[in-house]
Amino acid sequence: MDLTPLRNKFSEIFEVSGPRIFFAPGRINLIGEHTDYNGGYVFPCAITFGTYGLANKRNDDLIRLYSANFPDIGMIEFSLRELEFLNEHNWANYPKGMIKYLIEEGNSINTGMDILFYGNIPNGAGLSSSASIELVTGVIVDCLFELNLERLNLVKIGKKVENKFIGVNSGIMDQFAIGMAKKDCGVLLDCQTLAYEYAPIDLENHHLIIMNTNKRRELVSSKYNERRSECQQALEDLQKIVKIESLCQLKEEEFEALKHHIQNDIVRKRAKHAVYENHRTIQALKELKSGHIKKFGELMNQSHQSLRDDYEVTGNELDTLVEFAWQQKGVIGARMTGAGFGGCAIAIVEKAESEKLIQKIGRHYKEKSGFEATFYIAGIGDGAKEITQEVIK
Ligand code: GLA
Repeated sequence: MDLTPLRNKFSEIFEVSGPRIFFAPGRINLIGEHTDYNGGYVFPCAITFGTYGLANKRNDDLIRLYSANFPDIGMIEFSLRELEFLNEHNWANYPKGMIKYLIEEGNSINTGMDILFYGNIPNGAGLSSSASIELVTGVIVDCLFELNLERLNLVKIGKKVENKFIGVNSGIMDQFAIGMAKKDCGVLLDCQTLAYEYAPIDLENHHLIIMNTNKRRELVSSKYNERRSECQQALEDLQKIVKIESLCQLKEEEFEALKHHIQNDIVRKRAKHAVYENHRTIQALKELKSGHIKKFGELMNQSHQSLRDDYEVTGNELDTLVEFAWQQKGVIGARMTGAGFGGCAIAIVEKAESEKLIQKIGRHYKEKSGFEATFYIAGIGDGAKEITQEVIK
């Protein structure tokens, strides 16, 4: 991407030049959905879309933030001593929360900053634009103030912003993927212990495609929080009988033997998804490592079915896209990705067929749903980092 327009914008808005430039990606999750807060495995990767942050330190204690995505909102200003959540600060609450918690952890951030943000993650698509802006802010502050923070620390602070500052009870997957990802790799993360391993994603003659339903995601945070409490309920029912700390500690057979202890039918279905999805995720990594892409695709399909039938987070638009994709020659696997309730699905498709498939799936989806889908061939990129040096090279 040519960053000259953003540099120019930075000089125009802040009347200084020469900012350092940072980038944090968005993410997709290959498999392992709604398992992170159940102590299970997830297998996400970073994409090449993300959030750019151009930043300089100031000599006073003022923080000035501007997003090129929301020019109408204009510049948002506050001092280092005024770091509370404010509705009218809109998108800027994400970077503000990061700065607040970094200071609360005892990091020496003794001057203000000017930061210009620009994101090219499709809006509201469920590709984690919020974790992306959190992490790019974290890396900016880390580098400008030479804090030398552990990356995992920034990841945890990003999650805390989401949970405590914004109020979404999300797990650690998004911040972890965005903070820790590596180009051309997925990262298998055990969300109970935070042990992780990278796995090269070599799809040979296949493309990974992102299919955006372009359906506005509605009530995501309230429905998301509802799923979380349903899982908590299932866990509490089971903890009366077995000693477990999270649902994903159970093997499938153990769950089958114990499931009647979960009182509520719906809650039991939610728990079933978590347990089975966790095992699919471990299996999927094995298949990928052995080059069994077809088997990996079958597991993706099963994951979607479970999210549709047991976890009930897919909805009409995602189902229309994914179920039609399943019927097409050249589609190896397809599933929703992220929280669900609209947003994006992903598919692994044969390269030779991908153009035709995109046309066909798009036409069918438009006919059935009335929405225009957008398709992207996913590039798998690096985690959050400074890019000034790369740009100059
Ligand atoms: C959202 C949350 C994640 C995770 C996914 C579902 O992206 O932020 O923590 O729970 O949904 O897998």
